[in-house]
Amino acid sequence: MSSSKRAASESGAKQKTDTRWSPVQYQKFSDHRLRPALELLSRVPLEAPKVTFDLGCGTGNVTRLMAERWPEAKVFGLDSSKQMLEKAKAGGGKVEWIEADVSSWTPGAGPDLIYSNATLHWVKDHRSLFPKLASFLNPGGCLAVQMPLSFDAPSHRLMRETLDGGGKDGRSLGTSVLRKAVARRWVENTDVYYDLLADRVRQLDIWETEYLHVLEGEDPVFEWVKATGLRPVVNGLKGGELERFVEIYRRRLRQAYPQRANGKTLYPFPRLFIVALV
Ligand SMILES: C[S@@+](CC[C@H](N)C(=O)[O-])C[C@H]1O[C@@H](n2cnc3c(N)ncnc32)[C@H](O)[C@@H]1O
Repeated sequence: MSSSKRAASESGAKQKTDTRWSPVQYQKFSDHRLRPALELLSRVPLEAPKVTFDLGCGTGNVTRLMAERWPEAKVFGLDSSKQMLEKAKAGGGKVEWIEADVSSWTPGAGPDLIYSNATLHWVKDHRSLFPKLASFLNPGGCLAVQMPLSFDAPSHRLMRETLDGGGKDGRSLGTSVLRKAVARRWVENTDVYYDLLADRVRQLDIWETEYLHVLEGEDPVFEWVKATGLRPVVNGLKGGELERFVEIYRRRLRQAYPQRANGKTLYPFPRLFIVALV
């Protein structure tokens, strides 16, 4: 991009990164992605919640499981992506699907469960978001959240480094808005969540788990992040800049995550779990 065009595109005060989701790409590793979602759901100790919300329900795989586990409950699946919701609706289930943004969402009916898997790291300002979500719950209700702790993983560090110096003569790629968005540390330190919730809830369980995903195929870590953390980059870079980024980033990923002799690639992936009962 020429510098004048870049300056123009960076000047819009309301400029946002493009957060379109691709259900097909996201479901490529559905078995790996489902496991933490199910582990979180299995730690929800409610017997018969009446109203449950799945925030950032995506294609609705877990929302449908909620409806099966609690057939008497009113189950809502909420997401801001039309594409994800279309796929969710097509999958059926006794679920009411809602298109909304979590950051401005308030529930109509008091929820007994607010569940959110692999979504809240896309929503800013956790210091106000988490107390707000807990305050929505009915007495006895549960807030159950899982978020990736991959900010410092090579896959995400290399993304930032390639944007910062991957251009010709070591110049940066993309707009400063894009680089800033990708460089945002999206999950706070674990103790911050403890301090945000401890005085507001009667029981709080916070833990981290590192999964060792054994992936198959060519450049599987690239394919993995393409569905999630890399989306703003893939959607935001154009033409030659995107090609250059992809070439350098793929090469660096291959070095950081080498294919084993048996053709598989290991991708260690840490995640944070929070289960709070009010
Ligand atoms: C990584 S997917 C997780 C989907 C699902 N929870 C799962 O575990 O399979 C993240 C989802 O969060 C949604 N999302 C991201 N930001 C959101 C927001 N601010 N409000 C509502 N949904 C959001 C995306 O559209 C996407 O469907």
